[in-house]
Amino acid sequence: MINSKIQDSFNKQINAETYSAYLYLSMAAYFSSINLPGFANWMRCQAQEELIHAVKFFDFINERGGEVTLTAIDGPPTRWDSPLHAFEEAYKHEQKVTALINGLVDLAISERDHASSTFLQWFVNEQVEEEASTYDVVQRLKLAGDQGGGMFMIDRELAARTFVYPTTATQGA
Ligand code: FEO
Repeated sequence: MINSKIQDSFNKQINAETYSAYLYLSMAAYFSSINLPGFANWMRCQAQEELIHAVKFFDFINERGGEVTLTAIDGPPTRWDSPLHAFEEAYKHEQKVTALINGLVDLAISERDHASSTFLQWFVNEQVEEEASTYDVVQRLKLAGDQGGGMFMIDRELAARTFVYPTTATQGA
């Protein structure tokens, strides 16, 4: 059985992960509007991954006999100054999510909830990847600067990302 402190914090994390999906979907719309379909594709895939993250918490609460409570999702920004600005914001957002996950790990440890600690390790590792992948695009955009050719190449690379729906909710996304 999950205790109420962990349950409430995990419910908040469902909101945070769903907000992440919303944020990245909004970025996908922005990239489509400025004719960068590869960037838009990357963000769409990212939004789908975030929903899987939310569902992992959803399933875990249920499996532990807890109660899922969904709350209102804030509206994300809808415009950014440039592709670089959007990816810098994505990177900052991932750093915030990492801090949230670390806070959950601290709570699980202080509550001596070993099942939750183990469950959260997947997210600890995932956040290393999430920060690295957004930071990588930030660095590439800085190198490309205002050069249209560089931007076009990055767009083509980001177009190659695909999202594969995991066969079970507990598999990696
Ligand atoms: Fe679910 Fe990008 O953190």
